Formats: sequence, structure tokens, C-alpha cells
Amino acid sequence: MIAFDPKGAEERVRIVDLHPDLGDLREEAREGLQRPQKALPCKYFYDALGARLFEAITELPEYYPTRTELGIMSGKVDEMASAIGSHATLVEFGSGVGLKTQKLLDALIDPTGVVLIDISRAALEASAYQLADRYDEMEVIAVCADYTQPLRLPRPHRPSARTVAYFPGSTIGNFTHDEAVSFLRRVADLVGRGGGLLVGIDRKKDTAIIEDAYNDALGVTAAFNLNILRRLNEIGADFDLGAFCHHAPYVPSEGRIEMRLVSNVEQSVRVGNATVMLSEGEHIVTEHSHKYDLPQFEAMAREAGFRLARHWSDERDWFSVCFLEVDDAEA
Ligand code: AVJ
Repeated sequence: MIAFDPKGAEERVRIVDLHPDLGDLREEAREGLQRPQKALPCKYFYDALGARLFEAITELPEYYPTRTELGIMSGKVDEMASAIGSHATLVEFGSGVGLKTQKLLDALIDPTGVVLIDISRAALEASAYQLADRYDEMEVIAVCADYTQPLRLPRPHRPSARTVAYFPGSTIGNFTHDEAVSFLRRVADLVGRGGGLLVGIDRKKDTAIIEDAYNDALGVTAAFNLNILRRLNEIGADFDLGAFCHHAPYVPSEGRIEMRLVSNVEQSVRVGNATVMLSEGEHIVTEHSHKYDLPQFEAMAREAGFRLARHWSDERDWFSVCFLEVDDAEA
């Protein structure tokens, strides 16, 4: 085993590039737009502009999830830290030097190290060095990979008591039920026996409150949604952004918000060398954002080999942070 040196940040950072296949946006878009229900993958929201628009969304009065989750972290992080225990390795999905991750790392008792997983190598490196700077006792491993695909984690040099993953933001809500269960299974596998997952989920609540969060008065979410078409235009599509409207209804039967781009007119759009026809009022689905109640989420966790050990919510039960532990019977 290599001795651990708690000095320079550079020496405590290890970057492992698994060369994620970023996919071909043009190809994926063409495929999605040829389905009976036209769809585009939500991961393509986040170019530089999209990331900034999402930041703006989190500041909107209507968009409650981010500030609600942050409030839960502020109030309950010490309980989370004691549930996790000392000398843990934290695995973070999405390279976050976010406030939530910082709150968690600040509260953890002698964390051994942190493993960041992100598809963007630039974002990942920046976060890794920032974290190594801020937490001068921790080993930092940055893995450039697509976490929606199966992956193996590099072993930290320092032994730790357990591995706990952190997946904040209710990003799990982007997955369908089956995708979420297989993602959770992979996480259970990744953290292994004795491991855990701290995950944020957006709760079911009054429909108007949810719909307002995704249909804000300023139109920031509309811009965020339309940005995906602007990106496609950069790579050979000819979408007329003025010919589409943002609409994000809550679909009760699916328990989710559907981000849609509705065609204002009958039109044909060129995407690379394909042509896509849209009728007036037809929509493209760009994102699902599932809302859960606790029994439902607990059942999903159990299906994936976890048990719900603890959970923390705001006083209105709008959002929950759940601590799942790998079920020993299944590990
Ligand atoms: C980043 C996936 C958690 O679903 O609420 C915000 C993305 N989409 N407004 C969410 C989003 C529209 C957000 N997540």
C-alpha cells in the first residue's frame, strides 16, 4: 500500500479518465425525434449556457427543490454525518463542489477521501483541486466517466470504514422507474457491503406548486428547455425557436413533470440529413422529473438491494434526503 501524504493538493488528487462515450448528439437526437413520441435526452441541456440557465432556475422563487434541500442539509447534516459514521469515503455523482457537498464534507467525521464522478473532465479537474485545497486531509479521486453506465471505481489508497455515495438534487427523478432501479443497483454494487447512499428526492405535493416550479413567470425554464434546440442548430439542425413553446405539465398517472416543447404550427425541421415532421400542437419530451412518496421510493430502494435506514425532510414534506444502506442479506 502506498503511504498517504497529507501535504500538497496536487499529490492528493488522482484523475482517472475512463474516456466516457459522450454519444453523438446529432445521432441521438435523430433517433429520439423518429419515435412515435418524440423525445430528446435531457443530458444535452447542460452546455455552458444551459448550466448557467439551470443555476438561474435554482434562484427562482417558484423553484423550491434546491433551496428546500439546502435547508434540510443545513438543519440535519450532523445527523446525516453520524448516520454515515467516521472514516468514510464519499462518492459523489456529478462533480459538485456544490454547497450541499461542502456542507456534508464539513460535517463528516474524519472522512478518508472523496471520489468524484463526472462526464466533463474540465469540471471534474476544477472540482477535484478545489476540494483537495479546502480539505487538506483528504485523498481526492476524480473519475471521468458516464455514471449512467456501469463502472468500476479505483480503490482509494487509504483504507476507509465504508463507502457512501451522495446523489443530491433529485436528479434520480430524471430516470424512469426501471432506469432508477438499475441505477440504484449499480450504486449498491459500487459501494459494496456496508455501503450507503444519501440521495435527494422531490416529494409528491400539490400539483400547482410543482407545475409553477417548472413553468416560472420569468420564462427561465422555457429558455433552459429551448436551449436544447439551439444546441442542435449548432450541429446542423434548423429549428425555428420561435415556432416552439415550453410547457411542463405534471402527469399524475406517471407521477412526474414532463418538460415539453410544443410545436406552434405544422412544420418540418432538418436534423443533419434527416427531416422531422411536426404537426401543430405536437410536442417533444425533453425531460422527466419524477416526484415520489416515501413508501414508493422505499420500495424502489428495496428492489435495488438497499434498505431505507433514515430520512430527513423539510417541515412541509416537499423534499427528502434519504439514507439507504446496502441490505446485507443481498450484498
Ligand atoms: C436537475 C434534474 C433535478 O428535474 O428539477 C429544473 C432539472 N428541469 N427545471 C429537475 C430541471 C427543469 C432538475 N434536476
